[in-house]
Amino acid sequence: MKYQAPRGTYDILPEDIRKWHYIEDIIRRLTTLYNYSEVRTPIFEQLDLFQRSVGEDTDIVEKEMYTFKDKKGRDLALRPEGTASIARMVAERNLQSSTREPLRIWYEGQMFRYSRPQKGRYRQFYQFGVECIGSPKPIIDAEIIAIGWQILQEAKVPDVSLEINSVGCPECRDKYNILLKEFLYKDKDKYCTDCQRRMEQNPLRIFDCKNKTCQHLIEKAPRMLDNLCEECAQHFEEVKNSLEMMKVPFIVNPEIVRGLDYYTKTAFEYKINYLGAQDALGGGGRYDGLIGYLGGRQTPAVGLSMGLERIILSLEKSGFSFSEEDNLEVLIIPIGINPIQASIEMMQKLHEAGISAIVADEGSSVGSNLKYCDKNNVSFAILIGDNELKSGLYVVKNIKKKSQSEVKKEEVIDFIKTHEVVVK
Ligand code: HAM
Repeated sequence: MKYQAPRGTYDILPEDIRKWHYIEDIIRRLTTLYNYSEVRTPIFEQLDLFQRSVGEDTDIVEKEMYTFKDKKGRDLALRPEGTASIARMVAERNLQSSTREPLRIWYEGQMFRYSRPQKGRYRQFYQFGVECIGSPKPIIDAEIIAIGWQILQEAKVPDVSLEINSVGCPECRDKYNILLKEFLYKDKDKYCTDCQRRMEQNPLRIFDCKNKTCQHLIEKAPRMLDNLCEECAQHFEEVKNSLEMMKVPFIVNPEIVRGLDYYTKTAFEYKINYLGAQDALGGGGRYDGLIGYLGGRQTPAVGLSMGLERIILSLEKSGFSFSEEDNLEVLIIPIGINPIQASIEMMQKLHEAGISAIVADEGSSVGSNLKYCDKNNVSFAILIGDNELKSGLYVVKNIKKKSQSEVKKEEVIDFIKTHEVVVK
């Protein structure tokens, strides 16, 4: 029986991991510059957490969750996204109560959604997210949006556009929903069955529908953006002003509603147009009600997340060349059994000096090991046989320069350091 990775999942091989490290280094650097701290939450949570946070009428909860019961019959789900867990963590641990400054946190990890796999859409995918908890100020929305923008710019993802909108607060949304329902009910029967159901409970979700007929029908619907209350309209103006101050270019797109229910006020997406249907690299928004809704103190919050696969695919598509991972620097080749202990000691000394080194398999020939060095860009080979053990002089081969020296075993490290190995 041959096994395969489950549909919609994949392995990241050594030759590809550098692409992940490339983007992860940028995320770490920028989140540190903005004083965000990393957190790690469980990969599974109570099912109910996602049903309540993401929303019962969303595609994620209706169709895409991996749910299961544990041995005690508890209903659990693999996390489809990270924000619900963050809000749960803040509410559970009352994290926001003690600090004056908002809590700035970020995370990265696997998320799970049972959707139809295609390029840029997987059942297990990696997301990183940045969440700022405890401030209602529009400048914080702009800070979050700017961090995502800067990460994509630093990573050199081409042709990204930032689209922003406001989905209002519960007060103005209730009023707007009445207007929207009036519009939708005029052609009720023409919408897909999902939309007909959502029309009553959660009409804003219809903007999310992938069905072409529904998308066409809704083109002329009234927009949330034209129906904001004064406070939400003012908030949106200030977000735009702050983005301008930060020199982050954006366009206002009243159709951005996001596929999750917890948003209030600002909603945004980073979009590209060269990955087919997967046109969103990331998105986010404000979720002022969520932490209170989950039993915590009422705490305003705003955040974003991005899919790492989509960022990497965008870079590959643009022909970006990712730098190579660091090569092995030294291969120690014991000739016969006797020098194995000395080889291991040499390796340990090299490691102490921050130089990467391994001991070659004792059964392999010197020729094949030197070929391996050539092929894999290894800088030095150290040959240790019975003669070298006796004399205390090791043979150090500089592979690139094709030269060879006999070096006292105590001086090998200095020799290698002065002959251009990068010490970590
Ligand atoms: P989201 O828009 O559902 O937002 O997901 C964010 C990003 O995750 C997407 O733009 C996409 O790049 C990636 N993504 C989503 N589903 C898949 C998939 N099946 N395969 C590959 N990549 C995928 C959220 O998850 C919110 N938690 C964002 C947020 C944070 N809002 C506030 N804070």
